[in-house]
Amino acid sequence: PVGEIDLKAEITRLKKEKNAVFLAHYYQIPEIQDLADFVGDSLALSQKAAEVDADIILFAGVHFMAETAKIINPNKKVILPDFKAGCSLAESAPADKFKEFVEAHPDHTVITYINSSAEVKAYTDITVTSTNALKIVNSLPKDEKIIFAPDKNLGKYIMKETGRDMLLWDGACVVHEAFAVDKLIELHKQHPKAKIIAHPESEMPVLKTASYIGSTAGLLKYVQEDDNEEYIVATEAGILHKMQQAVPHKTLIPAPANEDNTCACSECHFMKMNTLQKVYNCLKYEYPAVEVPEDIRLKAIGSIQRMFELS
Ligand code: 13P
Ligand code: SF4
Repeated sequence: PVGEIDLKAEITRLKKEKNAVFLAHYYQIPEIQDLADFVGDSLALSQKAAEVDADIILFAGVHFMAETAKIINPNKKVILPDFKAGCSLAESAPADKFKEFVEAHPDHTVITYINSSAEVKAYTDITVTSTNALKIVNSLPKDEKIIFAPDKNLGKYIMKETGRDMLLWDGACVVHEAFAVDKLIELHKQHPKAKIIAHPESEMPVLKTASYIGSTAGLLKYVQEDDNEEYIVATEAGILHKMQQAVPHKTLIPAPANEDNTCACSECHFMKMNTLQKVYNCLKYEYPAVEVPEDIRLKAIGSIQRMFELS
């Protein structure tokens, strides 16, 4: 319409003009994923942020992801479309409480999911994501005492898979905790040939129904390599965009959520706060930008470097 700007063309133009790179998570709306220079899971996005040669990193994801990019790139400007795009997992571990918890267990190695604040990473020995958590925990000596935070569901899954005991923080993802196992089983009865695949942030009853458990990148790879034709996908529904592009002939069904979920449709309202208009605004005004105090950054970066070494 007259007077309206072409957001996609303007974002592309501004990106070039400002030497910006546009990174997006798989849970972003399709329009954002389609326009981004790189779409990935938490690990791939942090690795990408470590290697990009740009003056500005425009991060369409949630706050902790942009913050991680800033920890790695103190001299680059890291901007995000909506500063209020948080994460229930990161919020479940306030830094002061986490510090007390860590200090009460000085003989423990602290392993923290990347879904956490910079302050929490500052009290962490090794950051992990759902892609590398099993591998990293397995790389530690068998008798190592471990604190795992903040996702108790991922923690329980790792304990089950590795046979280790870990001290868990009591946090969870609102989206993955909302999957309703009774509805899931009912849906599976209607699609008996479908395989259930799930993200390890889901609760154990959901994970027990799954033929495959993995990170967003793992789930995407699985549907491409596996020879089944139909899947019920228990993770945030944004992943279905890239999945369907990768396997256009296969049937992909989002796992059902409980009615009390904010949208009852397996969508993360934090991830969905980002829009093309906000992407355009933040690139145009280079605002909001993430800042991490240097003393916290210096303490936090070690745990991310350990993750890169062990991934
Ligand atoms: P991954 O992209 O690492 O699978 O994480 C999922 C998630 O919940 C990100 O917020
Ligand atoms: Fe956080 Fe869950 Fe949303 Fe990921 S899906 S950003 S873990 S609330």
